Amino acid sequence: MEITNVMEYKAIAKQKLPKMVYDYYASGAEDQWTLKENREAFSRILFRPRILIDVSRIDMATTVLGFKISMPIMIAPTAMQKMAHPEGEYATARAASAAGTIMTLSSWATSSVEEVASTGPGIRFFQLYVYKDRNVVAQLVRRAERAGFKAIALTVDTPRLGRREADIKNRFTLPPFLTLKNFEGLDLGRMDGTNDSGLASYVAGQIDRSLSWKDVKWLQTITSMPILVKGVLTAEDSKNSLFVILCSFFFFFFFFKKSIHVILFFNLTNPARLAIQNGAAGIIVSNHGARQLDYVPATITALEEVVRAARGQVPVFLDGGVRRGTDVFKALALGASGVFIGRPVVFSLAAEGEAGVRRVLQMLRDEFELTMALSGCTSLKEITRSHIVTEADLHRPVSRL
Ligand code: GLV
Repeated sequence: MEITNVMEYKAIAKQKLPKMVYDYYASGAEDQWTLKENREAFSRILFRPRILIDVSRIDMATTVLGFKISMPIMIAPTAMQKMAHPEGEYATARAASAAGTIMTLSSWATSSVEEVASTGPGIRFFQLYVYKDRNVVAQLVRRAERAGFKAIALTVDTPRLGRREADIKNRFTLPPFLTLKNFEGLDLGRMDGTNDSGLASYVAGQIDRSLSWKDVKWLQTITSMPILVKGVLTAEDSKNSLFVILCSFFFFFFFFKKSIHVILFFNLTNPARLAIQNGAAGIIVSNHGARQLDYVPATITALEEVVRAARGQVPVFLDGGVRRGTDVFKALALGASGVFIGRPVVFSLAAEGEAGVRRVLQMLRDEFELTMALSGCTSLKEITRSHIVTEADLHRPVSRL
């Protein structure tokens, strides 16, 4: 069948994969509102293209954490890729490397960091879940570093696994012929079947719910790899960055005798600022493919506030719902330094293995190049906020148009 866009792989994957596997990849949390919204929010952003600009040459190359890549489209970590295709993460690694872009390997990969490294050269990041047993984490991070991985993408939105109802219904578990390869030697590579989601039980048993900002610092003591904080969605965090200034209590007591007012001063710190203060080399605006907390906004909606909070000090990336070159352009116009794609990779893997992932990367690249040409941009730095218009812009009292 002639595939003309990356979304078409989803239906093919659905036909090919066992229901339990397809549902695991496809589903989001609870009502799956955010899952839908991750896509729909992109469709509410419109273009303001410029015309009569020479677009005969277009340069999509960029640099991420000092690594030169061919385009600002990278591969997000998705778990257990050998459920999709026997070559799993090997195929993804080869496809990413052929496209000149970065692959992020999941902690819960069905191929180890060493195995992925052995597929050949390539720039690779390692997505990290922090286990309760810090020796496990330290060992794994060191192995990733030795295997040539270039950065850690630290997932910070999963103290517990989101409630994915299909996985509960299907009693999702890793098929017995596969293991979480990075944990095989540590006796944590298997997932027991339960009468719930096997992955949710695994997370409840192994993942450290107490993870906090101090652990971002700790990670820096065990690795020289830069750390990307993955899962930031807001510019304020009531728990971490709220400063209650008690003197305000007295101030208001004198001015309004009848009632006592307490002002809460919000510190200027926020997850984005905290990430920077705690030594993060970058931020990934992510809602975990809508698989964790439902009813969080689409990542493309949250992006701009995080970009503003980051104040250009560290790069901000985005994942979630990217299916078109136009989506990539919109994310860059809102300040992202690049995007990561997840589900299109596993669905294309299921359909065609490495060739499928290569095609996905090529199609997104072509679409993005076309979007740049039709918007009048010849390089990434020419993509600006004024090339798009968002709903928020339209609702501003004085239009900036
Ligand atoms: C893995 O990261 C998952 O969300 O299932």
